[in-house]
Amino acid sequence: MSSVSSSSSSSSFVLPVDLSKAYRLLNHGPTVLVSARHAGESNVMAAAWACALDYSPPKLTVVIDKATRTRALVEQSGEFVIQVPTRAQARLVHHVGTHSALNEADKLERAGVEWLELPECDLPLVDGCSAWMACRLVSEPHNQAAYDLFIGEIVGAWADSRVFRDGHWLFESAPDALRSLHYIAGGHFYAIGDAVDVDVDVDVDVEQSQD
Ligand SMILES: Cc1cc2nc3c(=O)[nH]c(=O)nc-3n(C[C@H](O)[C@H](O)[C@H](O)COP(=O)(O)O)c2cc1C
Repeated sequence: MSSVSSSSSSSSFVLPVDLSKAYRLLNHGPTVLVSARHAGESNVMAAAWACALDYSPPKLTVVIDKATRTRALVEQSGEFVIQVPTRAQARLVHHVGTHSALNEADKLERAGVEWLELPECDLPLVDGCSAWMACRLVSEPHNQAAYDLFIGEIVGAWADSRVFRDGHWLFESAPDALRSLHYIAGGHFYAIGDAVDVDVDVDVDVEQSQD
């Protein structure tokens, strides 16, 4: 497998993702980065608790703790980005997930966050990720206050075409460095593993009797 450095820009490979397929960017349960911008301030944090919620219009949920600076930016701007970081970005993910902009003014610089500029999106997109979902906050004050649970309607989606194309992840053939991350705890991640394919035309009973 070829390698991709953590500083590699995704810019040459970014393609839009059809919104009807946007839920697939999260279906495999990756650890994500949440980013938001308000009044000229941008920030990024890690989130393991992000999930697809609806197909049309596509929506997602993410848990954003009250103690985070990112949450204030999401609430003030009414928009945010959920992006899927790569194995090559594990150190960056851990840094933005263990340091708060509230007490580290140069957090993003220290973490090595760079922005991906897309003409069609003026939200803060983290460069080097494999997929990005621009979200409009669906304001649910009760859920936000009681459970730290934020709902976003996905209004734009893009992916690195080396690893997600035509509505499908291509982890089998993409560079290892582009695998998604799955967080356990204490700086310990897994990179997504092998594909397991089920023959959708074979009846379960028949399949088992052939084992
Ligand atoms: C891998 C990882 C996953 C995390 N998942 C979540 C999460 O789902 N929700 C959350 O509120 N915080 C989560 N955190 C913690 C935040 O990312 C952390 O509090 C961060 O420092 C907040 O940054 P900020 O205050 O600059 O916004 C996670 C941390 C790590 C390392």
